[in-house]
Amino acid sequence: MAWIKIEKAERNYFFVTVVLLALAIAAIIYATADGHAALPEPAERVDPKTLDAEGSEFAEPGLKEVGPNEYDLVMVAQAWAYTPQEVTVPKGSKVNLRVTSRDVVHGLRIPHTNVNAMIIPGQVTEVTVDFDDEGLYSMICHEYCGIQHHRMGGRIIVEE
Ligand code: CUA
Repeated sequence: MAWIKIEKAERNYFFVTVVLLALAIAAIIYATADGHAALPEPAERVDPKTLDAEGSEFAEPGLKEVGPNEYDLVMVAQAWAYTPQEVTVPKGSKVNLRVTSRDVVHGLRIPHTNVNAMIIPGQVTEVTVDFDDEGLYSMICHEYCGIQHHRMGGRIIVEE
């Protein structure tokens, strides 16, 4: 468009911007079209309305020993608490978490471990964590879930 006067430098930056944008879009198309990138698949789907139904593992959340030093921890998140709120495991335990939400999206972060997950109604989140050191581990909701979000937490006590 000859009737618009554009500074040479501005035109160059404009050109660079368009090229970078095109590269970014091309990268997204390449990554998704070829199956390199995908949204994480939930471990399992579950109906939040039937969590309390007979036979549902989430009807009786809690800790179950499943092997030597290995535990399954079934948890339900709901505004604004986790059930169970507190569990104790021995040092050196491997804990397989299976967590779902009864209502809205919650988070689950256990500092000093690998646990950093979203808890989504309708989905089961699975994370495995090794507690090699004794201590008190906080469970923190780190997805805003309503007025009492900041108070939503629990703890895992790892005993000697
Ligand atoms: Cu639950 Cu924030």
